[in-house]
Amino acid sequence: MTTINPSLSVHVFITGVSSGIGRALAEALLTAGHKVSGVARRRHLLKEMEKHWPDFLGISADITDAEAMASAVKTAETRFGPVDQAILNAGVYEQQVDLNIDPAIFRQQMDINYMGQVHALAALLPGMEQRHHGHIVIMASVAGWRGLPLAASYAPTKAASIALAESLRFFCHQKGIKMQVACPGFVKTEATAKNTFAMPMLMTAQDAAKALIKGMQSQRFLISFPFRFQLMMKLLRLMPYRWYFWLTGRMTGYRQ
Ligand SMILES: NC(=O)c1ccc[n+]([C@@H]2O[C@H](COP(=O)([O-])OP(=O)(O)OC[C@H]3O[C@@H](n4cnc5c(N)ncnc54)[C@H](OP(=O)(O)O)[C@@H]3O)[C@@H](O)[C@H]2O)c1
Repeated sequence: MTTINPSLSVHVFITGVSSGIGRALAEALLTAGHKVSGVARRRHLLKEMEKHWPDFLGISADITDAEAMASAVKTAETRFGPVDQAILNAGVYEQQVDLNIDPAIFRQQMDINYMGQVHALAALLPGMEQRHHGHIVIMASVAGWRGLPLAASYAPTKAASIALAESLRFFCHQKGIKMQVACPGFVKTEATAKNTFAMPMLMTAQDAAKALIKGMQSQRFLISFPFRFQLMMKLLRLMPYRWYFWLTGRMTGYRQ
């Protein structure tokens, strides 16, 4: 399995690079001397980053478009050479506050959060397999571990991403490609700005980026933080349903 020396300059490809965790990651990696290419839709934010960082290439593309993703990876590789590491981070989050199910909202999140990662993998994995070298981080969330109130449309996309990373990890390991999954807790970004409830152990995007980069340098498959929050979520995951629904209901104000 590939272990990339963190002190060497590498080419990192990031989806969802225009804001939040993706942008904080790009800035931390550029500061450390790496070359970063990235995809997002908001062109003006990418241009702003390019002006500030000579070793940054922003590609305006929609991750739901498989051909656009294939072409984005080609453009990035033409500029900086083969992708060494890819962080498949682009995602959206919508709350499901009642029992009125709008399939379009569910489909949109699955298309961006999950199929977007599949499109990026389709574009990246053949080259990595050929080179027997590469490192992929799939962005999921602790929300993918168990159902949560308000997360009916979002949590399934993260559960799907976790299963995707776990399943591909077997082949990737055999082909010299390091595969990891990231499950952060609450991070202060545009996505979580819509939450009106108190988010426990909320961290900044910059601290999340630091924790992610530290996790990427480890040999662990799962990168999850902050420590106390992910521990609590892991314990909840192990509980029998009766206890889980009772305790989570009390903690979130949705008493059972
Ligand atoms: N914030 C948290 O508490 C938290 C916790 C766990 C996991 N996560 C995950 O972390 C990832 C980043 O989220 P964030 O909190 O940093 O949110 P954010 O600030 O809203 O960033 C989302 C990024 O994804 C990009 N994006 C969205 N739809 C896209 C599309 N169709 N094509 C290309 N790019 C697209 C956005 O760029 P454009 O709008 O410019 O396209 C933006 O750069 C997501 O996968 C999220 O689920 C977040």
